[in-house]
Parts: sequence; structure tokens; C-alpha cells
Amino acid sequence: MTEGLRDTHGEGTRLDPWLGAYAARAQAMRASEIRALFAVASRPEVVSLAGGMPYIGGLPLEEIGDMMRRLIVDRGETALQYGSGQGDEALREQITQVMALEGIAAHADDVVVTTGSQQALDLVTTIFIDPGDVIVAEAPSYVGALGVFRAHEADVVHVPMDAHGLIPVALESTLARLQAERKRVKFLYTVPNFHNPGGVTLSLERRPQILEICARYGVLVLEDNPYGLLGFDHEPLPALRSMSDDGVIYLGSFSKTFAPGFRVGWAVAPHAVREKLVLASEASILCPSNASQLAISSYLNHSDWHGQIKSFREQYRDRRDALVGALEENIPSASWNVPEGGFYVWVKLPAGLDSKSMLPRAVTARVAYVPGTAFYYDGQGADFLRLSYCFPTPDRIREGIRRLAGVVDAEMETVRIFGTGAADRSGSVEFPSPDLA
Ligand SMILES: Cc1ncc(COP(=O)(O)O)c(C=O)c1O
Repeated sequence: MTEGLRDTHGEGTRLDPWLGAYAARAQAMRASEIRALFAVASRPEVVSLAGGMPYIGGLPLEEIGDMMRRLIVDRGETALQYGSGQGDEALREQITQVMALEGIAAHADDVVVTTGSQQALDLVTTIFIDPGDVIVAEAPSYVGALGVFRAHEADVVHVPMDAHGLIPVALESTLARLQAERKRVKFLYTVPNFHNPGGVTLSLERRPQILEICARYGVLVLEDNPYGLLGFDHEPLPALRSMSDDGVIYLGSFSKTFAPGFRVGWAVAPHAVREKLVLASEASILCPSNASQLAISSYLNHSDWHGQIKSFREQYRDRRDALVGALEENIPSASWNVPEGGFYVWVKLPAGLDSKSMLPRAVTARVAYVPGTAFYYDGQGADFLRLSYCFPTPDRIREGIRRLAGVVDAEMETVRIFGTGAADRSGSVEFPSPDLA
């Protein structure tokens, strides 16, 4: 029977006899060329400024270990059993308290627990997107969201940001154009706080403006907010969801404020949407992990999680300062924003440089970053790169930037002699591996 399938499609190769059998949506799923380079980048001698991996060494691991042991001894029969498709009720209640820190007044019944907010992105896309539907997203956008959108054959239209986040007039003119073209715009995907990869935060003033524009055009807002509690200088701004209950689906996560290894995130959605999210999640995973959910729940009950977030903020602020200081000192020909929280600095390279073609030289010099092209649907971004300061120590960050400065100098010399290395990448999207997302 399987042979028959191979014969029918007739496009197999020795490497993949099933090539002709894939669904159309799988054709676009290809590992990026830069993955191989990142396999090298994970070696200890390379300073990786590429990954968005939280600094897990900053957690009280002994205490968490004791807590996990107690959880299995005391509540193993629940923790190791299947659970509810919507998620553990006690955890959902606690999640409402976490969200209250950003002004959201939700009920536990509004919350759907997911396997990381990544699964929530997938569920929302599953229930809203038919092939060819349009998703409007910031330029640049989170690479993991672009991967989900591509897997569902969405068409992504980017809207620019500036230092204050998504630009309302640009959003308005894009929605007006798409409406005139009779495109089916399903939602706006936005990361309002400490953007990945842009590092910027949507200003307080713009938040109601974005909601008003989307409401006028009948476009739902998908607010993805894993970094909101990791601000360095001030209290969190009110979430978009706190200003609109029925126009916003909100996504949260414990990955950046606690630990991604538990894979616990959540979605809050208008009631009818929430129903569909639960059904879609049950169809895909039956239920989120009870062991992970109960671990997070007892962490929130018994640990000083507010203190832990404060400590993370301080450590990430030091690392941000180390990165920005080293950029000023070593690569003044580039430009960048100074993020007020989160993990990322978005760097514009000196004219003529191409971050993707420069990557092999960087990895050879034992420093890694993610090229800007990964964060656009349409191949733009070669003149940018993303640097993450969350994982390496301040000293390693400074060393990494010194190495990167050498690479930039050498690349500028090459460009001076041979001209620009920028290639035409229209239509190509990079999908670096998950630890780089
Ligand atoms: C903007 C954004 N959304 C979602 C995610 C996914 O996070 P998780 O699935 O670990 O909750 C990430 C991870 O880097 C992210 O940066």
C-alpha cells in the first residue's frame, strides 16, 4: 500500500521517498540554511547572542527540586494523570492573578492553559485561518509566530514599528488598502511589550488607538505578551486586553518569567472563541501536562515568584547594559534601540552589510546572532540582526560584541573592495531552531 502511494505521487527522491505525498502546507516547512551554523553556535567556545533562552541559572534550583519531589509524593496520582482540556482550574485562577498585574480583569473560566504560548499561537491560527487569509503583523515579527502562520498558509502583511511600537497611521492605511483589495484580514498579531525581536514597547497613548482602528475594521487583535513583567524601569503598562474584552485574544506564558521547560502558557479569549480553542486543543493534545501545571501552581503558591521576577529583571538589566555599552564602544557604525525590558536588541548594520551572508564569518569568529531576515515573511531584514542578552553573563556578552566588531570591520572591508553582499531574498523565510526563537 505504501509503495502505491509512492508510485501515485511519483516525486520521491532517495532522501525522501514521500516527497510527493505531503500536504501543500508542508511544502513550505523547510529547515533554514542557517540551522547548521547554529548547531556549531551552541558549542561552548561560541558566544551565542542568538537564542532567546532565559537565564535558568538564576532560579533557586534546589528549592524547585524539593518542590517537584513533594508534588509527586503528595499529589502524584493527579500530577501524573490526564487532566482537563481547558487546564487545571486552580492554576487558571492563579493565572488571573498574574494577569491582574497588567490590569486584566479575567475570570478563570476565560483562561485556556496551553503547552507554551506557542501552542496557543497555533490554536488561534487553526481556528481562524483558511489558506490565503491575511494576518497583519508588525515588521519585524516573532519568528515562531511566522512559522505557525506559514504552516497554515496564511498571507502575512507587515506594518512598520518605530521607537513607540506599531505605528497607528500605518496600521490604518494598511487595513484600508486590504479592505479595498477585498482581502480577508483575520487578525492583527502584536507583541506590545519588549518586542521580539524589535525590543520596543507600544506606548500607552497608542494602545487605545490600535484597538479603535482594529474595531473599526472588524479585525481581532492577538496580543502576545510573554515579556510584559520583565520591564527594567517602570511598572507594566496596561495590556490591550485590559482595554477590550471582546476584541482581543491575549496570550501569556511562564517561559520567560519562570522556566520554559515546563511548557506552560495560556490564552484568554472572548467566550465563544475560548470554546473553540478548548476543542482545538483537545483535538491536538487532549490536555496540557498536569505535572507541569501543578508544578507551576505550587511554585506560585509556595515560592516568592514576585521576588524571582524582580531578580530576573535586575540580571537582565545588567546584561542589557553590558550589551549596549559594548556596542557603543566597539561597533559605533551600527545603530540600535535600547530596550526597557525583555531580552532583545535590534541592530541596524552599517550600509551595505548583509547579516545573513555575514553569519558564517561571525560563527568562525565564535559569536552568533540571528539574521534579521528570520523575522520577516517576505525576505526583508538583511540589514538588521537580533542580539539576545538574556543568557550569557555580562563578561561573555562584552567578549561576544568584541568578536562581532571584528567581523563587522572585516565585512565592511570586503564590501569596500567587492561591493555589497546583499542578496535578493524575496519570498524566503528562515526558521531557526526552537531555542533561537
Ligand atoms: C513573542 C513570543 N511569543 C511566544 C513565544 C513562545 O513562548 P512559549 O511557547 O515558551 O510560551 C516566544 C518565545 O520566544 C516569544 O518570544
